[in-house]
Amino acid sequence: MGLKKTEIRNFVRFAEKLARGAGKILRQGFNRRLRIAYKGRINPVTEYDLKSERYITSEISKRFPDHDILAEEGSDVEKQSPFRWVIDPLDGTVNYVHGFPVYCVSIALEYDGDIVAGVVYDPERDELFSAGTGMGAHLNKQRIQVSDEKVLQRALLATGFAYNIGTAKRTNLGLFARMAKKAQGLRRPGSAAIDLCWLACGRLDGFWEFYLQPWDTAAAKLIVEEAGGAVSRINGKRYSIFAPDILATNDHLHKAMMSALTGKTR
Ligand code: IPD
Ligand code: CA
Ligand code: CA
Repeated sequence: MGLKKTEIRNFVRFAEKLARGAGKILRQGFNRRLRIAYKGRINPVTEYDLKSERYITSEISKRFPDHDILAEEGSDVEKQSPFRWVIDPLDGTVNYVHGFPVYCVSIALEYDGDIVAGVVYDPERDELFSAGTGMGAHLNKQRIQVSDEKVLQRALLATGFAYNIGTAKRTNLGLFARMAKKAQGLRRPGSAAIDLCWLACGRLDGFWEFYLQPWDTAAAKLIVEEAGGAVSRINGKRYSIFAPDILATNDHLHKAMMSALTGKTR
């Protein structure tokens, strides 16, 4: 059985409250001297990734003790619930450790495997992006929509590079060069969740990346779709948050980006 609209709305409100609370924590640590550990050669985790995650997961467990949780820094809860929260407590950690002001917190809720609520909060710009299934996407309570751009040569695109860039089969560097020549502009802001939300509100027209993790895209995928955008694998197949690549566009440019990235059309 599906969820009622009012139930979804209440989950979105709750996630918004948590995202604002976590954003406050993240702002306290921004541009401060940080304790940093490394999960890989270039993959940092700060004390604020952990503080933010601890805050979000403890609030969820207090309010919904039966719900599952999948969180980047490992505060997972597995109770075989149909509800699962998918959390990135700090997306854009490399930016964060350098004082580069592009980072956010991302909170999504799945029900029976479908994302039904998604919230991304950017504390630097005080921008709260949110969506619930069938409710549209909002930025600070104002309805948002993807852009209307139909021509790749006039499009502003974004992408990113995974932490495994030193060893990965798909470094994305070849496609970065190819797409830079096809678009009007190409950016690498450094937070996949923000890239997707900026697509949702029309600041970007298309985005692709390899090797993202479920918490990077769970909330923003719904925000893009509810804003009228399209999300798929780069080859056009159905996207899951566990997939190894993603293509998200304003829908108009989906075919053009797919063929530019793969040489094929949908
Ligand atoms: C990273 C950011 C970045 C993307 C990386 C992600 P993190 O997440 O989303 O934009 O290019 O692949 O891992 O580590 O800052 O949460
Ligand atoms: Ca992330
Ligand atoms: Ca993170």
